[in-house]
Amino acid sequence: MSFAIKYVLVLSLIFFLLGSSPQVASSQAEGAKQTIVQPIEFSHKKHAAQGLDCDFCHSNLEPGEKMSIPDAALCMDCHQAVATDKSSIKKLSQYATSKKTVPWIPVYSLPAFVFWSHRTHLSAKQPCEACHGKVVDMEVVQKTNVTTMDGCVDCHDKKDASAGCRTCHESRTS
Ligand code: HEC
Ligand code: HEC
Ligand code: HEC
Ligand code: HEC
Ligand code: HEC
Repeated sequence: MSFAIKYVLVLSLIFFLLGSSPQVASSQAEGAKQTIVQPIEFSHKKHAAQGLDCDFCHSNLEPGEKMSIPDAALCMDCHQAVATDKSSIKKLSQYATSKKTVPWIPVYSLPAFVFWSHRTHLSAKQPCEACHGKVVDMEVVQKTNVTTMDGCVDCHDKKDASAGCRTCHESRTS
């Protein structure tokens, strides 16, 4: 047994004995619409209306775990000429010319003890929408429950994917 799984099992026992789970608090927080204020007000809805597909901006990075977030330079392909008078675009243009990464605030994040890869799911033909919701209709990205254990297990049950604890809590290399 790895240290990580021992750690979570011990933790869950403690919370069981205390009669309260940390998940209760976190799922309530997730239920309430969270508002993350991004450094630049980027709207998925507006850009989807321009006919841009997800993979125009997000690609599956090696070794497959993560999706990329686009550089300001990609945005400037259009914004060299589009909406240049807006303060948000002036800010964007500064990031691009100074070759700095826009400090986007992460919306989704999993704890390190969970084994996860986008590639497994993209290869299994799971669409972005199944996990991230209708991003094309979102001005601001709203988090779904996909980073909770229930969020993962519900779909694994439906799709006959493995729901054994080791699927998500044991390192593949060991
Ligand atoms: C024009 C570029 C562009 C397109 C097209 C685009 N995105 Fe994004 N996406 C971004 C940028 C920039 C961010 C970071 C800012 C934010 O969270 O809104 C982001 C953030 C996200 C996030 C949140 C990541 C995180 O955890 O912080 C998800 C999920 C996402 N996009 C999914 C999608 C999906 C699904 C599509 C297709 C329907 C899509 N995106 C199309 C540029 C794009
Ligand atoms: C294919 C061209 C294209 C690309 C690529 C593109 N945009 Fe846009 N963007 C537009 C158009 C067109 C509008 C105006 C849409 C509207 O008002 O409905 C816009 C509007 C915006 C606005 C709102 C400006 C305002 O205040 O009215 C922001 C901010 C923005 N884009 C940021 C980005 C960022 C960040 C990226 C890269 C992740 C990006 N755009 C990539 C075409 C593009
Ligand atoms: C089976 C569920 C699932 C599918 C399908 C999925 N995602 Fe994700 N996505 C997640 C989870 C879970 C995270 C958080 C991962 C983490 O914290 O390491 C995430 C994170 C992201 C991020 C933030 C960067 C990162 O990788 O952590 C972006 C951007 C993103 N997803 C875009 C997409 C796009 C675009 C698609 C479709 C091509 C897609 N996702 C398909 C579950 C999914
Ligand atoms: C929308 C449905 C869906 C969601 C949500 C989902 N998965 Fe999956 N997952 C699948 C499918 C389908 C497979 C592929 C099963 C196969 O190929 O046998 C898979 C496979 C996996 C595998 C590889 C299993 C193996 O035996 O190789 C891991 C690990 C995994 N998922 C972890 C997660 C985690 C962690 C989450 C939540 C953050 C999650 N999944 C959310 C559908 C989903
Ligand atoms: C398909 C993926 C998946 C499977 C299968 C899975 N888990 Fe999890 N588990 C997660 C994710 C994702 C989290 C992180 C939840 C969070 O941060 O809210 C988690 C968190 C936990 C935690 C931390 C405490 C908590 O509740 O947040 C424990 C303990 C745990 N899992 C035990 C198990 C056990 C025991 C099994 C087998 C019965 C199992 N998990 C099966 C994905 C999975």
